[in-house]
Amino acid sequence: MDRIRITGGNQLNGTIPISGAKNAALPLMIASLLTSDTLTLENVPHLADVELLLRILGNHGVDFTVNGRRENQSGSYARTIHFTCRTIADTTAPYALVSKMRASFWVIGPLLAREGRARVSLPGGCAIGTRPVDLFLEGLQALGAEIEIDGGYVNATAPKGGLTGGRYTFPKVSVGATHVLLMAATLANGTTVIENAAREPEVVDLARCLTSMGAKIEGAGTSTITIEGVPSLSGARHRVLPDRIETGTYAMAVAMAGGDVTLEGTNATLLDSALGTLRQAGAHITETESGLRIVRNGNGIQPVDITTEPFPGFPTDLQAQFMALMTRSSGVSNITETIFENRFMHVQELARLGAKISLSGQTARVEGVARLKGAPVMATDLRASVSLVIAGLAAEGETMVNRVYHLDRGFERLEEKLTRCGAVVERVSD
Ligand code: EPZ
Repeated sequence: MDRIRITGGNQLNGTIPISGAKNAALPLMIASLLTSDTLTLENVPHLADVELLLRILGNHGVDFTVNGRRENQSGSYARTIHFTCRTIADTTAPYALVSKMRASFWVIGPLLAREGRARVSLPGGCAIGTRPVDLFLEGLQALGAEIEIDGGYVNATAPKGGLTGGRYTFPKVSVGATHVLLMAATLANGTTVIENAAREPEVVDLARCLTSMGAKIEGAGTSTITIEGVPSLSGARHRVLPDRIETGTYAMAVAMAGGDVTLEGTNATLLDSALGTLRQAGAHITETESGLRIVRNGNGIQPVDITTEPFPGFPTDLQAQFMALMTRSSGVSNITETIFENRFMHVQELARLGAKISLSGQTARVEGVARLKGAPVMATDLRASVSLVIAGLAAEGETMVNRVYHLDRGFERLEEKLTRCGAVVERVSD
């Protein structure tokens, strides 16, 4: 199993290209189930989660070519993938696949909308929390779906004639359930209104792509999205938006290690809140023609309190990385997690590097220390894993991050990107 070895102490200087967003690419790929025409996605990152979803979509009848060639012949950056689902081959998403990646549950929306039925395994728990699917099911019921749970599977059936437009108000913001309702409503009869919808840039990106496919959507990016159903969708060509979590992660790495790095192909509007927090912590951030420039030279890291929130608030997917940064601040920082109930697994691992962190309910109190010292560490989800890489960049000596497959799920060529900027990071295969 691969591991990542980091020898800390070097500043980061240079340029890092930001990849297409994993969390936009996944729902966009799933949207290919909605049409028998070809959906072409550009700027698709080469990640384990994307590869897994290609396999899952293949089971449902999606044929795909990567950069004009078959899968596995290209590992290049910013891949273009053509997806064609002439007919749905199978409306069942089995446990063996859904349990590996929660987002594959989202196929329930397009399958139901196009075929009138779907049998999708419940995803089960995951490392960061229980993550139920009640909001997906309530939302689909509001469009007329009949839902039955049997043997660990959700059996969803549309009424004769298809789903019907409806109104659904989310009691709690959910990114995934917003994606699913949005996709399902595009082919429903009549108008759907989604209230308290997720406003994440990835939802806006999906809505833009669906609109290019012929969907009628208004309000994506606000709390109320209105969808006028259409009888069918066509193919389209769409470019996946830049990864705001990868952007924020490297920005925090620079703030941690010091240096001067330009993050290419990204933009500040995707993560205003996190960049504001980083500025308070002492990073100098400017927008450039090619992306964002992050500089921290000399001056130390200031403590800042954060609370994770749905967009446009501070993202939960950057909480672990920010905590890593705060371990070296000149004071005390309080970090409160409100989205997932169990997203502090990195705390014990950061402590192995010498961090001083105490937990009280959903808040971590991080007392900055003058030095971290390298150690073997591991984490159980991808954002937690990368927080250990960030800490390792500033730790004295060698940090070995185990279970690298978590990183490979969401960070494209991480070690290559960091090494190009002067970090000493290498992948070790046993
Ligand atoms: C998406 O997950 C992201 N995943 C997550 O990124 C991200 O952390 C999360 O949104 C929040 O921003 C993808 O986009 C693939 P939610 P999702 O539904 O959609 C509860 C990463 O590291 N909830 O917005 O699954 C849920 O338990 C990943 O890239 C219900 O209670 O998250 C959570 O507490 C991790 N019932 C909250 O809502 C439901 O039916 C928000 O979850 C659905 C969700």
